[in-house]
Amino acid sequence: MLSLLKCMDCGREDALDARLITCPVCGGLLDVVHDLDALRPALAPDLFNRRLASWDPLDRSGVWRYRELVHPAVDAAQVVTRGEGNTTLYPAGRRLAEYAGVARLHLKHEGENPTGSFKDRGMTAGVTQARIVGARSVICASTGNTSASMASYAAITGLQALVFFPVGYVALGKIAQSLAYGATSVQVEGDFDDTLDLVRQAADELPIYLLNSVNPFRLEGQKTIMIELLHQRGWHAPDWIVVPGGNLGNSSAFGKALHELHALGLIDRVPRLAIVQAEGADPLYRSYRDGWQTRHTVRAETLATAIRIGNPANYPKAIRALAWTDGVVTEVSDQAILDAKAQIDAAGIGCEPASAATVAGIRRLVDEGTIAPGDDVVAVLTGHLLKDPDAVMKYHAGTLAGVASTYANTMRTIQPSLDAVAALLGDSV
Ligand code: F0G
Repeated sequence: MLSLLKCMDCGREDALDARLITCPVCGGLLDVVHDLDALRPALAPDLFNRRLASWDPLDRSGVWRYRELVHPAVDAAQVVTRGEGNTTLYPAGRRLAEYAGVARLHLKHEGENPTGSFKDRGMTAGVTQARIVGARSVICASTGNTSASMASYAAITGLQALVFFPVGYVALGKIAQSLAYGATSVQVEGDFDDTLDLVRQAADELPIYLLNSVNPFRLEGQKTIMIELLHQRGWHAPDWIVVPGGNLGNSSAFGKALHELHALGLIDRVPRLAIVQAEGADPLYRSYRDGWQTRHTVRAETLATAIRIGNPANYPKAIRALAWTDGVVTEVSDQAILDAKAQIDAAGIGCEPASAATVAGIRRLVDEGTIAPGDDVVAVLTGHLLKDPDAVMKYHAGTLAGVASTYANTMRTIQPSLDAVAALLGDSV
């Protein structure tokens, strides 16, 4: 056995090329399960380093460089890649680290992917699988980034892309991408959770392949955020990995990656996962707080529209990820998210609002004593600053409803005079 699909609820197994998204018997979530013992001998210590010096498109991709852990027997000719991954691991700088409350803070910026979010890592794997199973059309529900990514990868592959948005709550940059890449773009009169229900039904009934993160191949691609991060760190695990939680695909993928890397001996200890939700979109946090007695759902409301999700599809996999990593869940207000975003932006790094929940979450977890000030922490920034220009402009103009613009950088207007320029010097340093 090399790799297969396995239902996490009933244990049913299917071949990797079976055209399945969820379990055909019980409806449970599927995992792509790899035979780690069979893979171990292939993973010579310098394998990934050697690939860093190669021009082969698969070796250059920050996903397919690690293909043994993603889709081990994939036919290279089927792979659809944009050279995704290879994202920077930034040291936070003193001011931002102080703001977060930890001495050692790094930011892995997944907004540096080709379409500006981590979704490209999942989509290269998901669209490759769509091609392997012979799909002609692909579909997703999205708060904007999945759709931008799917639209791009589908266009490259020659697949029809159908993207469905919750009406009124998708950031401008993301809608623009979907239209530009030529996807059939549809607004649904409902929220993300309604929209995901609709596309899941459509994918069950119609000849169309679902590329939301319930598709297990998406998560195999997203695992490489962790794999690449640890490769960048010479396989030295930090104390904490901090990630925003929406539909919980990333959280699930990170847990699986860390679990596998540890089982393979590539890391000698598993870092702890901290999942951060927005206060108005906090179903996982509610369940965590009540000791997992209830699977909570909420009508989600947050300015971080990427994570405006009240019924996360990957809930059981996220709980498993927390168990594998001794993880924690927290929540932060929109005010805390936008202030943290202003700090990340002003550090010259920048991200979209949902990503900034990480730094806001670290602040809270340090305050509460969960993260120690001396801990070594990596936050994953999930999307690019330019995804949501409205949030930036309104924050700095002081017009964001319900939020105080604590760190506003206001636009000034001057007369065209040298004196007016001279008066600006040293002003904002
Ligand atoms: N950050 C960003 C920028 C996102 O776009 C998303 C999810 C998340 C965090 C949450 O990740 O769902 O894996 O927990 N965006 C999805 C979308 C829902 O449709 O683009 P998750």
